[in-house]
Amino acid sequence: MSRSVKIGMAGLGTVGSGLAKILLEKGGILAERAGVPLELKRVCVRNPDAPRQIQLPPGILTTDLEGLVSDPDIDIFVELIGGLEPARSCIIKAIEGGKHVVTANKAVLATCGWEIFRLADQKGCCVAFEASVAGGIPVIEVFREGLPANRISRMIGILNGTSNYILSEMSSRGEELDTVLKKAQEKGYAEADPTYDIDGTDAAHKLAVLASLAFQAPVEMDAVSKEGIEAVERFDLEMAAELGFVVKLLAVASKRDEGLDLRVHPAMIPAGHLLARVSGVYNAIYVTGDAVGEILLHGLGAGQMPTGSAVAADVVALARRIASGCRCSASMFLGFGLDGNGTVEICPREALESRFYIRFNAQDRPGVLAAISGILGSNGISIESVVQRGRAVGGGRASVPIVMLTHAAPVIAVEKAVEEIEALEVVAGKSVMIRVEELE
Ligand code: HSE
Repeated sequence: MSRSVKIGMAGLGTVGSGLAKILLEKGGILAERAGVPLELKRVCVRNPDAPRQIQLPPGILTTDLEGLVSDPDIDIFVELIGGLEPARSCIIKAIEGGKHVVTANKAVLATCGWEIFRLADQKGCCVAFEASVAGGIPVIEVFREGLPANRISRMIGILNGTSNYILSEMSSRGEELDTVLKKAQEKGYAEADPTYDIDGTDAAHKLAVLASLAFQAPVEMDAVSKEGIEAVERFDLEMAAELGFVVKLLAVASKRDEGLDLRVHPAMIPAGHLLARVSGVYNAIYVTGDAVGEILLHGLGAGQMPTGSAVAADVVALARRIASGCRCSASMFLGFGLDGNGTVEICPREALESRFYIRFNAQDRPGVLAAISGILGSNGISIESVVQRGRAVGGGRASVPIVMLTHAAPVIAVEKAVEEIEALEVVAGKSVMIRVEELE
């Protein structure tokens, strides 16, 4: 075998430790698959004295990020720091110095990925990013290598393991969001800032990355409309079950005549659908292509070893390319060239329609239901069913939950109607609106 391919890694958190473990314990099979030995040369951490689960060979740890990024001996820079900075600057510096990059950083890719890919193209470097979406599921490779013959019309993902774990545990164990989030953090599923898991940001980053591959054009984060699971309560999950649904945080990209519809939000889906069975920290991506039909990818979406496995896949693929002396460019791991791929048309909100589950908290008095349904009717929204649970305890001003399922209606009209309903004196506080996703 030829000389080793040398790896410099920044970040030794959950994913970094997973990769280090794989490189140290499986060096033999990785070398066979890459056709060249892989050497973990440097690992940059903030605190070298922090307790770690992994024992690295002596002399590998450094705190000198600049030094690692500009070390001429390193072939592949693996960025596992997360967050925007200093990750973005390090990636750019590494490429400017002629290094290939492997990153799991969906935030960087979704906000400034195209600047990075263009620079990599100019410098003849590869940027690989399998671990940025859906943990251990090789979804990036599937889009790049497995589906080039397809026009993708729709992609529905469960792309955030933490929120899926939270919704599953809230439904099956009746636990509260905060309690389950703590467990997700202990298990290493959550982001450094777990707000991103809960408010839909992490799933939106991943959707932007996947949509770029599926539709072969730069899609950035601000094209994705996003809503998180903060407002979903156990009551809504129980109601969903009674109505024959399961609640999931969905990431949807679909091609419509008006443009791409890109959105992340909690949604009710039929309990019998395959996606409804994706529970815990599992992720799934359900893709419809004109040649392949429908496919479902399923696997662990977060955690040390599944995500470490995805990073290792990129490292091996890159090492193989380096060892064979192939030409490198950004398009090698994107699956399409950057020239001629302009901006995508985004579907205007006015064109979007959906069925909705809406929960109002309203006083239990004659005429309240008529007032609510009157406002829905005057906004052109037709009601499919109504459920009122219990009687108000403690007098006429106490409120009870009223749940309505609407027929498909313009999203903007539903939002306006709900705002008008919330202004009624007999309605208390914010309502909960959850879309009902149409799935065959
Ligand atoms: N926090 C992320 C998740 C980790 O829960 O899916 C994997 O990207």
